[in-house]
Amino acid sequence: MDEDRIRLQCRTYLRAMREAFGEAALPLYASKAASFKQIYRIMQEEGMGIDVVSVGEICTAHAVGFPLERAYFHSNNKTDADILYAMERGVGYFVVDNREELDAIERVASEKGSVQKILLRLTPGIDPHTYEAVSTGNVDSKFGSAIETGQAEEITTYALTLPHLHLAGFHCHVGSQVFDADVFLRSAEIMLRFMAEMRDKHGYLAEELDLGGGFGVRYLAEDPVMNIADTVKTVGESVQALCRQLGLPLPAIRMEPGRSIVAEAGMTLYTVGTVKQIPGYKNYVSVDGGMTDNPRFALYRSPYTVLLANRTEKAEAEEQMRCSVVGRCCESGDILQENVSLPCDVTRDDLVAVLTTGAYNYAMSSNYNRLPRPPVIMVKKGNARLVVKRETFEDLVRNDLD
Ligand code: LLP
Repeated sequence: MDEDRIRLQCRTYLRAMREAFGEAALPLYASKAASFKQIYRIMQEEGMGIDVVSVGEICTAHAVGFPLERAYFHSNNKTDADILYAMERGVGYFVVDNREELDAIERVASEKGSVQKILLRLTPGIDPHTYEAVSTGNVDSKFGSAIETGQAEEITTYALTLPHLHLAGFHCHVGSQVFDADVFLRSAEIMLRFMAEMRDKHGYLAEELDLGGGFGVRYLAEDPVMNIADTVKTVGESVQALCRQLGLPLPAIRMEPGRSIVAEAGMTLYTVGTVKQIPGYKNYVSVDGGMTDNPRFALYRSPYTVLLANRTEKAEAEEQMRCSVVGRCCESGDILQENVSLPCDVTRDDLVAVLTTGAYNYAMSSNYNRLPRPPVIMVKKGNARLVVKRETFEDLVRNDLD
């Protein structure tokens, strides 16, 4: 992973958001995209907030002393133990998904004698038209309370009655890998109109509005380029104009970019093992990884750019073959990419690079087939250092009892 690139993305969001929404604005890195100690250290140094979705992410951020008052705790099903853990570590905000959770947080806060700041997660009823597995803003979503059905209003008025909760504002997230700025404009508009409605009907003025994440990144050369600064500026202009029209003070804006902070900063390097050609049918290039370090093709058929890394320039001039680059799991679906062009003489010990793997790869890795996870290397100004160790066989059996 390229540390300079990660820091550049953070600075781009910070600057763009402050220019668009004023000094109170804060980007929250959605740490589900890549979560390990060094990432939280970078976020702390860059002055970012973070979106965390589990106590595992909270404890990782806590381990490097990340100031958790700048952490926003998501999840649609926080257990009582999760709630207590997060409160005891001083997590600044809980993003509350539903009414049961409100009750549970109120109960734990009241037992502790504290007041917990919360945002309510609402679904604005927008389908971002990306792939279904990452679409979350629609009314029938697993996440949040829908504005359209009246449940958002119900949960808002209920939250206002709970003495150990401070309702700071609202959150929405419509989906991931979104390229159309209009999706963000429409969801911001629905949220602002809802805020105005809550002020008019219930005298409640939200201080914060979290617009979620979802900015798309380029996996292939032909993918569109999403200009972060321009898009944030466009959203800013439209939010400012609508606030004036509705007579709302500009809320403190949050955004939750995950993929667009880390994806393009990452690349996975594999060593080629078997090359199998089935004449008239298909060619396979097997590498020393697969769905265990990158399940995204198996799950979403995600496209990736794949290159022969140890002789890139020469490789392009050589005769190419179409192949599937596959992993080493006992599973036919263990495919990293199909229809890849590699030189016909690709052979054992060649290196294959899969680009744009900084987001949702290591984070979604597993030990399926009892394969140890690979290490993560961070590169900064030409110097490489290990930030996550390669798993050992000892790690694999650590929790097994005799
Ligand atoms: N905020 C919330 C509430 C989210 O649910 C997500 C992503 C984000 C922010 C960050 O979205 P981003 O900026 O990264 O698009 N595993 C899938 C992606 C799942 C995204 C889940 N939520 C993948 O590999 O494509």
